[in-house]
Order: sequence, then structure tokens, then C-alpha cells
Amino acid sequence: MRKNILVLKKSKCQQRICEILSVIFLFLVIACKKETDVKVLTFAHNLPTSHPVHKGVEAFKEHLESLSEGKMSIDIYANGNLGTEREVLELLQIGSVSMTKVSASAISNFVPEYLVLGIPYLFRDKEHFFNVLEGKIGEELLEKGTTSWLRGLCFYDAGSRSFYTKKKPVKEPKDLEGMKIRVMGDKISVSLVQSLGAAPTPMAFGELYTALQQGVVDGAENNAPSFVTSMHFEVCKYYCLDEHNYLPDVVVIGTKSLEKLTLQEKKWVFEAAKLSAQKQKIFWQEAEIQSVEILKKSGVEFFTPNKDLFRVKTEVLKTEFFKDEKRLKMIEEIEQLK
Ligand code: GCU
Repeated sequence: MRKNILVLKKSKCQQRICEILSVIFLFLVIACKKETDVKVLTFAHNLPTSHPVHKGVEAFKEHLESLSEGKMSIDIYANGNLGTEREVLELLQIGSVSMTKVSASAISNFVPEYLVLGIPYLFRDKEHFFNVLEGKIGEELLEKGTTSWLRGLCFYDAGSRSFYTKKKPVKEPKDLEGMKIRVMGDKISVSLVQSLGAAPTPMAFGELYTALQQGVVDGAENNAPSFVTSMHFEVCKYYCLDEHNYLPDVVVIGTKSLEKLTLQEKKWVFEAAKLSAQKQKIFWQEAEIQSVEILKKSGVEFFTPNKDLFRVKTEVLKTEFFKDEKRLKMIEEIEQLK
């Protein structure tokens, strides 16, 4: 009898344990389901987290999470940890990474239409620049990449690019003669430096600090926030504000990743990107002012040259690259836009 009671007690106890276990199991299933329900896109870029472009990417993530009410998110890999701009674009093409932010220079090696943006002194001012990029021409450029599996989502401000040098200042084009200047790998950047009499040396951004330090190159060219956050100003003490071009950054999604999204998810991604571009403009303005202050405090000497001297020398690029009628038409369209 006692034995029977014990058996009964044991089976009740087992039943209770089973009940508790099934509740725990149910919670785990729900928790896991919640976890996998969030669609996470990977985003890789080559700039440091202190850069205003990275802040734009963070805003993109926040907008996407809020528009989708937590159903979508972004994992950001900065500092070139997943590769150079070129390598990451290739990862996008095969679908291993979902999104990136690269210079228009880098994407022009895959989608040549972007080359037009690197033409020296193409944009009259910031207003003209944004009217082009946020209008029909910009939209067409973003779409163009689709045939190369690289769909542009929006443009980020990357200011204007100017020369910085290590040993001697550049005050006019002739000072560049014989200097080795690091450039991004696209045709326009190479020809631009060539037309000014210097020797262009293509190299990834992440390799540049050491190259400057070791004297592999005599200088480079970039906007002030990149000059500061890359710490190149520790090596180069001369900054010549010739502002030879306004080359934007482009936020891109690989079409392999895009195709996996539902219609609604695509809408959220496009909208969040566009909203982040508006915020990034503000981050950029603030960073430009702060960067100039940092550079001056660090003993970097600024020069404001006669830009016309640079303009005349680089004029040749328009005729060289845009012999092609379609491209020439694009330049004319940009120039005519208010
Ligand atoms: C800018 C641009 C980067 C680019 C870099 C470069 O900082 O935002 O995308 O890699 O210039 O000079 O390579």
C-alpha cells in the first residue's frame, strides 16, 4: 500500500516536472522565434566609427528598426574589417554582405556611369550638388548599378577633396610636379592627378597611413573629416584647399540580398536609407567645422590657392573621358541644372 502511494507521488511529481519543462520549452521556442523573426542585414564600410559617414549608417539602422517596429535591423562592421571598398562590393555581388557605403570612385569601377561625379569642379556649390544627387540624375545613377548586382540606395555627403602633403606645401599646381600622390583606383582620380603633373599611386585607404609614414607617397587628397579621423594629419602638415571635386559616398545594397526581402521590407530599407541621408548631411556639416579646428590646433598649415589654376589644368578630363556622347550629355545635363 505504502509502495503504491510512493509510486503515485512519484508520478505526480514527474507530471509536474513535465509541465514545468514544457512551459520552459514554450518560452524558449517563442524567444528563439522572436530572435529569428528579426531580419538582420550586414553593413560593412571602411571608415572609423568617429567618422560622420559612420554616424549616417547608425542613423540608417535606427530608422530601419523604428519603421519596421523591430522586425528589421542592421549589423554594422566599420574600419574596413570585412575588406577594402572593392572587396566589400564584390561580397555584395555574391550576397555574402548585404550593404555597404563606398566612395562613388569605388563603385565607378563596377558601374562606370558614376565616373561623371568625379569630374573636377563639376558642381558649382553644395546646393547644386544636392539638386543633382537628389533629383532625376541621382536616382538614375542609383538604379544603374542593378545590372551589376549593386543597387544604390542614397548618397551621403563626403564634402570636397583637397591635397595634403608631407614634406612641402602645395600652393599652386606646379608644386605637385614630381610628387607621388595616393589616389583611389578609378580612372578620373588617376587622370586628375596626372593632369596636375604629379604621379598618381592607387592604393586602398586603409594602407595609406603607413604609406605616408614610410614615404611611399608624398601626399594624398581627401575631405577634412577623413583627413582627421584617419590620423593622416599626424604625418601630413600641409593642406591645400583646392577642392578639386565633390565626390559623394554611395550607400549600396547587393541585389542578391535585396531580392530576399518582401515588398514591405524593401520599402522600409529604401525609406530608412533616404531618411538617414538627411541626417548625415547635418553630421557632415558639424564634422567639417570640428575637423578644421582639430587640424589647425594640430599645426596643419592651410593654403587657399587660386582654384582657376587647378580648373584650367584639369579641364582636359572632360574631353578625354567624355568623348562618348551619352556621357557628355550627362555632364551637360548636370551643368544646366540650377
Ligand atoms: C573618403 C570616402 C571613402 C574613401 C576615402 C578614400 O573618405 O568617404 O569612402 O574610401 O575617401 O580616399 O579612399
